[in-house]
Amino acid sequence: MGFLDSFRLGKKSTSTPAEPEKKVEEEVELEDKVEEQEEQVEEVTSPEEKAFDIENAEVIEREVVVPQTPPEPVPLKTYKDKKPINKVVGTTKVIAIINQKGGVGKSTTSINLSAALGELGKQVLLVDLDPQGNTTSGFGIEKSQVTRCIYDVLLNDVPIEEVIIPDVCEGLDLVPATINLAGAEVELVSEMARENRLKDSVGVMRGKYDYIFIDCPPSLGLLTVNSLVAADKLIIPIQTEFYALEGVTKLLESMKRVKNRLNPTLDIFGILLTMYDGRTTLSRQVAAEVRNYFGRQVFETIIPRTVKLSEAPSYGIPITQYDPTGKGAIAYKNLAEEVVKRG
Ligand SMILES: Nc1ncnc2c1ncn2[C@@H]1O[C@H](COP(=O)(O)OP(=O)(O)OP(=O)(O)O)[C@@H](O)[C@H]1O
Ligand SMILES: [Mg+2]
Repeated sequence: MGFLDSFRLGKKSTSTPAEPEKKVEEEVELEDKVEEQEEQVEEVTSPEEKAFDIENAEVIEREVVVPQTPPEPVPLKTYKDKKPINKVVGTTKVIAIINQKGGVGKSTTSINLSAALGELGKQVLLVDLDPQGNTTSGFGIEKSQVTRCIYDVLLNDVPIEEVIIPDVCEGLDLVPATINLAGAEVELVSEMARENRLKDSVGVMRGKYDYIFIDCPPSLGLLTVNSLVAADKLIIPIQTEFYALEGVTKLLESMKRVKNRLNPTLDIFGILLTMYDGRTTLSRQVAAEVRNYFGRQVFETIIPRTVKLSEAPSYGIPITQYDPTGKGAIAYKNLAEEVVKRG
């Protein structure tokens, strides 16, 4: 056999009969491996673990909760639903709670003084004139449910009765504000008798309430001017902090301008010291300084700084309900009595 023959033979031997044999061997080996692996897998997931997996799967299935339909919001009451009044209503006093400085306690005072007067048996209407709507939400009113607010009264000639939410608390009705009111400052500019809008709408309610309070925004814009024209008197909350009197001179100038031209009987009803912390010298000094400046116009009642007063709005109730025996509630009840005494 020559070299080539042996090569051919060798080649033959590897390509023809020998190959299927090898394939069969490989297939057998492969099958063995697969079986081995399957066994291994079965070993890893023991029957208990399988059961555990099934349990897990069930848990996961249970977690896919059917979406719940949110509870239907209770529609807001309207003036027609107002409880009958079985007492004599005195001469209406319109009081704006005003200070262009932000965060001094205007809304806190509006909510809690109004509620305390309502509990004293007075009929009170509270007008939220601030686009922030803090007073509105302070009574737990969902602003998304308010379809018409003080904005519509001022700019769309909607009668005030149509936006009043009655009996938000005992003896207390509310005219709500929504963010729509933010446009009023600009839109009022081009309106006729723009400074008298609030006076005209609130005037309709004279004789129906003992007190009408207006919670003003922290600015001296047209909304505040409207409240200066509509009001008989002003309550100016002053925070017993640094720069307490900052801006008050400007507010008094605005008051004088409106008094001279549009509302001759406008005057200060009372200066209210708020967020007083008797432990600090600063609070005591500021209180003394304010009393020195305004004399007897300052209410004897001082509103203390208490966490409860800042918590109450998130529960949508006044301090007299949230913490009836606490310092804050006592202070606002005393203030209500002082307001009644001042006439
Ligand atoms: N006596 C108080 N003790 C503790 N926190 C208070 C007190 N009075 C008001 N606050 C809190 O201080 C913040 C400002 O108060 P509030 O909203 O009444 O001021 P405001 O003058 O109405 O503010 P704005 O100018 O923004 O309308 C609020 O978070 C309120 O809860
Ligand atoms: Mg406010």
